[in-house]
Amino acid sequence: MRHPAVRRQCDRQICRENGIEAGCGWKIVRQQEEFMYYPDDIIEEVRSRNDIVDVISQYVSLKKKGANYFGLCPFHNEKSPSFSVSPSKQMYYCFGCGAGGNVITFVMEYENYSFVEAVKYLADRAGITLPEMEDSREAKARRDLKNTLLEINRLAANYFYYQLKQPQGRPGYEYLKNRKLTDETITHFGLGFANKVPDDLYRYMRSKGYSDSILKETGLFFIEERGSRDKFWNRVMFPILDVNNRVIGFGGRVMGDGEPKYLNSPETKLFDKSRNLFGLNFARKSREKYLLICEGYMDVIAMHQAGFTNAVASLGTAFTAQHAILLKRYTEQAILTYDSDGAGVRAALRAIPILKDAGISVKVLNMKPYKDPDEFIKNLGKEEFQKRIDGAVNSFMFEISVIRSEYNMQDPESKTGFYNAVARKLLEFPEKLERDNYTEAVAREYMIPAEDLKRLVNSLGGRFGTAARPEGRQEDRPRKKKEKDEGIRKSQRLLLTWLIERPPLFETIKGIIAPEDFTDDLYRQAAVMVFDEYEKTGTIEPARILNQFIEGEEQYREVAALFHARLEESLSNEEQKKAFSETIKKIKRYSLEEKSKKATDIKELQDIIRQKSELAGLQISLE
Ligand code: CTP
Ligand code: MN
Repeated sequence: MRHPAVRRQCDRQICRENGIEAGCGWKIVRQQEEFMYYPDDIIEEVRSRNDIVDVISQYVSLKKKGANYFGLCPFHNEKSPSFSVSPSKQMYYCFGCGAGGNVITFVMEYENYSFVEAVKYLADRAGITLPEMEDSREAKARRDLKNTLLEINRLAANYFYYQLKQPQGRPGYEYLKNRKLTDETITHFGLGFANKVPDDLYRYMRSKGYSDSILKETGLFFIEERGSRDKFWNRVMFPILDVNNRVIGFGGRVMGDGEPKYLNSPETKLFDKSRNLFGLNFARKSREKYLLICEGYMDVIAMHQAGFTNAVASLGTAFTAQHAILLKRYTEQAILTYDSDGAGVRAALRAIPILKDAGISVKVLNMKPYKDPDEFIKNLGKEEFQKRIDGAVNSFMFEISVIRSEYNMQDPESKTGFYNAVARKLLEFPEKLERDNYTEAVAREYMIPAEDLKRLVNSLGGRFGTAARPEGRQEDRPRKKKEKDEGIRKSQRLLLTWLIERPPLFETIKGIIAPEDFTDDLYRQAAVMVFDEYEKTGTIEPARILNQFIEGEEQYREVAALFHARLEESLSNEEQKKAFSETIKKIKRYSLEEKSKKATDIKELQDIIRQKSELAGLQISLE
């Protein structure tokens, strides 16, 4: 007895006559019944009692502009706001990256929550008591892959932790103590031990009733017919937690020398290495204005133990733009504390532009003569480390110092080469004022006459042009047919957006356009709901309609785009009216063409031809 509204749509004349089955709402109902945990009306209550502007304002700073709010998109890197939140639609949409949805999907995407987690969070926020799930639902919820993987990871973390304190975990415990970790630190980070038995954890999980197929998805096991084994054994274990303290993966270190030194969980449905940073769950709560970014587990842990609880590490992977976007939620300043060896310097040079692009200002800490923060703190203590933090250099000056190390300043030719390299680097600043400031700073530091360096910068700038960045790849030319399809889809999006924003337009298109004229399956499903809602209530709540698309697939993004199509903004009133009428005709014409391809009898074809010719002479008025 679920989705009565949608279900009724399947009894509509249109659906039956046209044999639209896969396309109308019905198929969604069928798919979603498998996933649904709470009744529709509860989900709708949770959604409607959490105003989207209120909720998103907790995360993104929004400014009102016309009827909508705008801010910097939390889901991609950008410098000018293209992320919009509409109070009337109760939806968000980013015109830059296409992220979009309602308040539930926002929380899912931002917090990386499953649907059930997001609903629980928002219910709590609005003071709504959710009904107990029925037993069968509860069981289904547990069968939800992501939830199950979280559960297994949590169990595994507890298991490793328990082992560490047992006699068989003694070598692990001693190893950690040798590395000067306190019991408090071990507990705080939930460190553990994987036994020397090859299938210890595997047997434990089987005894808990987990099947091979699900265990395989965790990345913790080698599942094989001749016998399954643990991925981690005889290692100290570092659970990797996401910002919400959920265990999403593990790192394991050999005790002593051995290869590989660290083993990490592979990427799974839970663990996306480019979107998670070790230690961020604690660091986000630190009061410092900046974050410390380092390379390793032990570095993070050593820094936290010494009181630098704002340290994080990207794990066994290079620092990515996704990491930077994630960090930008919590800070505007980062200090790189990468290893002082060649690899560490290269990693820092790679990370700097990524962080800057995300709008984070970067400094680099000098760790010499030690290799990494762990060794530094062990040898010189936390006060000295704090001094190094205070003395960290601006990333640009760091880059210059790296360039400097490649030249021999005793050799006149090499020295000139260095000056030219510095000048080219300075040209990366598009703003003259900033460029001048840095030119002066570099001149001071390297004792180059400032006026001479400025002149060099200007002459190189004149030669190459300051903004002479080669434009990226050329767009592939899409095929003709594809172009046409995308054109039609754009028109269909425009029409749905207009109808939602100005429901009286339904009267204008009555008799011309019906849901089956939307030729894309997903668009048609959405159109059926939109038309139906208007018919019944005279208004449309797009965010409510979106609820039907949240679970299962990530269709909601596409549907959100459907409700946020835009014409060129510069169009005059006259041009807009014309565009409206042309859009309608285009959609209808295409729909008729598609129909005629499928038509089987003459009468049907004649009817289509008649409609086509009528369409040509049709006057559609926006009034
Ligand atoms: N790493 C990895 N796999 C390896 C080696 C390193 O994933 N085979 C990752 C780990 O996250 C590690 C980080 O890279 O923490 C830094 O590596 P490295 O500098 O070699 O190790 P340390 O952090 O110094 O480790 P330790 O102090 O335990 O020797
Ligand atoms: Mn180390």
